[in-house]
Amino acid sequence: MTQLQFPAGFLWGSATASFQIEGATTEDGRGESIWDRFCATPGKVMNGDTGDPACDHYHRWRDDIALMKDLGLHAYRFSIAWPRILPRGTGQVNPAGLDFYDRLVDGLLEAGITPFVTLYHWDLPQVLEDAGGWPNRNTASAFAHYADVVARRLGDRVRHWITLNEPWCSSVLSYWIGEHAPGIKNGPAVAAAHHLLLAHGLAVPAIRAASPGAQVGITLNFSPADPASDSEADRAAARRHDGFFNRWFLDPLYRGSYPVDMLEHYAKLNQSPPVQGGDLATIAAPIDFLGVNYYNRAVIRDDPEAGGPGYTFERPEGEYTHMDWEVHPDSLRRLLERLHAEYAPGPLYITENGAAYPDEVAPDGGVHDPDRTRYIERHLAACHAAMMAGVPLKGYFVWSLMDNFEWAWGYTRRFGIVYVDYATQRRIPKDSALFFRRVAAANAL
Ligand code: FCB
Repeated sequence: MTQLQFPAGFLWGSATASFQIEGATTEDGRGESIWDRFCATPGKVMNGDTGDPACDHYHRWRDDIALMKDLGLHAYRFSIAWPRILPRGTGQVNPAGLDFYDRLVDGLLEAGITPFVTLYHWDLPQVLEDAGGWPNRNTASAFAHYADVVARRLGDRVRHWITLNEPWCSSVLSYWIGEHAPGIKNGPAVAAAHHLLLAHGLAVPAIRAASPGAQVGITLNFSPADPASDSEADRAAARRHDGFFNRWFLDPLYRGSYPVDMLEHYAKLNQSPPVQGGDLATIAAPIDFLGVNYYNRAVIRDDPEAGGPGYTFERPEGEYTHMDWEVHPDSLRRLLERLHAEYAPGPLYITENGAAYPDEVAPDGGVHDPDRTRYIERHLAACHAAMMAGVPLKGYFVWSLMDNFEWAWGYTRRFGIVYVDYATQRRIPKDSALFFRRVAAANAL
């Protein structure tokens, strides 16, 4: 392969999330989150794993910054735990929580690493869930208040803000499918999704006011849909999947309306978004960048018997990761080109991309993960191709800096470019980390 050069200033980073790495879930006044409660509920998380000690990052953050510096990373996307800042969701601020992230931000800046702060990566304060969670409109205003508190404290140094991570997961996966906290099945997921989007819209001006000149964006997860065959029915089903997963969030953010075909489908499922006057304008207020999380595509077959949206997922021949997710880099290229062409969000960042494999420490002490290296390499080539086609992609954050708590999978799925030995908390850069360091240093593939 000839060398693929990235533009000067392209950001090479890694991403994590508070609940997945911090541990210390009861320390320094942190309140309970819905993920603490979910983990404590038997049968919800594999092996009964919990957020403790995770990667013990709450105590080892200095070492983790040093690790990123050693890998030559330019940027770090992390999230803030709302229950550390406002243990009761609203009201009394916990200074120790703010102090932790304040030190982290200073440490990153000293190391020459640009912080990208995600405000919500799923750890809702449990008290807010008890009051109705995301299906309750009040949660949106509580979020705007929380965003204001954090931006006032960090906004002089943090220049890049991401309001929400993957609202599809914190609505549909959490209140309809029930696989994520709070684990509600067939609940008011569409209301949850609307209030998440509203929370985003309300937080944007609050962040801008407290952090003048900052770049504010949102991160969505995408599931590009291919029909299982050329039949009209399969193509319509793929379009539905695209609607439920991708357009449901893109359209209100970038067009100020929900997709009409999906409103009709949701009405059949007795769900409709509880829109109040002005909501859609609030949601669609211009933002500075779009964060793209991409792992795999979906291949869709129409199936009226399937219930819900009326389709099933095919499992085409191909390569699969430990999550049983198909490796399909060209769908990332197509996704980026489509987003740029159809929604024109301006600057884009890959805020997550990566793969789980069952890594082990080899007798030589290294962790040899050629599949992950190959995964990253092929997806970077896809990014490069999209950029050549005119997509303004500004950076790539690998998921993840280190192995961590993979939600309902507990610690059984390793996504890190750095291996974590949970018993000793030793970190071992995998071969993929060394590969990523070379790419970042050369700014080329
Ligand atoms: C995404 C999440 C992230 C991680 C990866 C594998 O959906 O945002 O926290 O779990 O999947």
